[in-house]
Amino acid sequence: MKTTFSIIKADVGGWPGHALVHPDLEEIARKKLTDAKRDKIITDFHVTHCGDDLELIMAHSNGTDAKEVHSLSWDTFCEATEKARDLGLYGAGQDLLSDAFSGNVKGMGPGVAEMEFTPRKAEPVIAFMMDKTEPGAFNLPIFKMFSDPFNTAGLIIDPSCHDGFVFEVWDIQEHKHVMLKSPEEMYDLLALIGAKSRFVIKRVFPKPSSKLPKDEAVSVISTEKLYQIAGEYVGKDDPVAAVRAQSGLPAVGEVLEGFSLGHLVSGWMRGSHNGPLMPVGIKDAACTRFDGPPRVAALGFQLKDGKLTEPVDLFDDPAFDITRRRCMEVMDYMRRHGPFEPHRLPMADMEYTTLPKVMKKLGTRFKKIK
Ligand code: 13P
Ligand code: 13P
Ligand code: MG
Ligand code: MG
Repeated sequence: MKTTFSIIKADVGGWPGHALVHPDLEEIARKKLTDAKRDKIITDFHVTHCGDDLELIMAHSNGTDAKEVHSLSWDTFCEATEKARDLGLYGAGQDLLSDAFSGNVKGMGPGVAEMEFTPRKAEPVIAFMMDKTEPGAFNLPIFKMFSDPFNTAGLIIDPSCHDGFVFEVWDIQEHKHVMLKSPEEMYDLLALIGAKSRFVIKRVFPKPSSKLPKDEAVSVISTEKLYQIAGEYVGKDDPVAAVRAQSGLPAVGEVLEGFSLGHLVSGWMRGSHNGPLMPVGIKDAACTRFDGPPRVAALGFQLKDGKLTEPVDLFDDPAFDITRRRCMEVMDYMRRHGPFEPHRLPMADMEYTTLPKVMKKLGTRFKKIK
């Protein structure tokens, strides 16, 4: 039987500012999902946070876009918002951008990464959660794990990975998508996904030659852009992704290796700055210096008969200290640029922030250069 793995997340209030989720909000979510498990809406779950984003990780058999699971998530975020209001948390209900819920949270503010698949005998699956950045932040690590032989040894030495993978790339401005094969079309793929604010990897599929069903995604990334829903800056998208590993797919360590650079992403303070993405354990998934730097956490599960094992906090490991140290050095260097690009985002990306209001004030004072 197929299983659906869903990560649905929202920022419903920060503690303090945009730093962290208050534990009372997680408690509400745990209670809601415990009831839903008892009522057999979901088969298992794990509630956590990354920075100020409340993360619902769920296993169930309802398929993707299931009304029951989306309603459960929406109701959970609404209840947590009420608590956030009671506690006076910052930006209570920040990501709930509509009151007219109609069965699916897509386009309503929360981020969604869901995939339905036939579980293998042993099914390792990893939930990645980012704060203070945008969906394109996943392009580099997802590319590396499924396409870069210097990252993933299995692409070279494992016959079941050797044919590569198929990437589904979305143009989030034009609302189009394209399927690209790797390694055959790797340079085309990179031509697109290097432009990470516009082209984002949505899913990865096995090649037709794989033993895995070729229509079942092996990775999925949330691609919701909050400013496109709200029409203005309300917070960064703070994306999530699910990645399956081993047996015809990259090993867990090859999946994690994709995050070992501490690559530059956009987001950070006021969603308006470039900075390094720091991999951290959940205990360190709180955004502090200059509301950052942007962070990514990873929880690894084994999935069996719809049940999830306890998670392993995969970046809570000294093996990633070197990445974190590099991130801190880069963070400090970038910070010294203050309001200058390329620390601050280019003007096109600032269009959705509060900067145009400042520029407008100066408008009438501009005179033509003779
Ligand atoms: P084990 O021998 O520990 O199963 O590891 C195999 C492997 O492929 C590690 O990447
Ligand atoms: P969030 O998107 O995490 O809410 O952060 C918003 C922000 O402006 C941080 O400075
Ligand atoms: Mg926030
Ligand atoms: Mg956030």
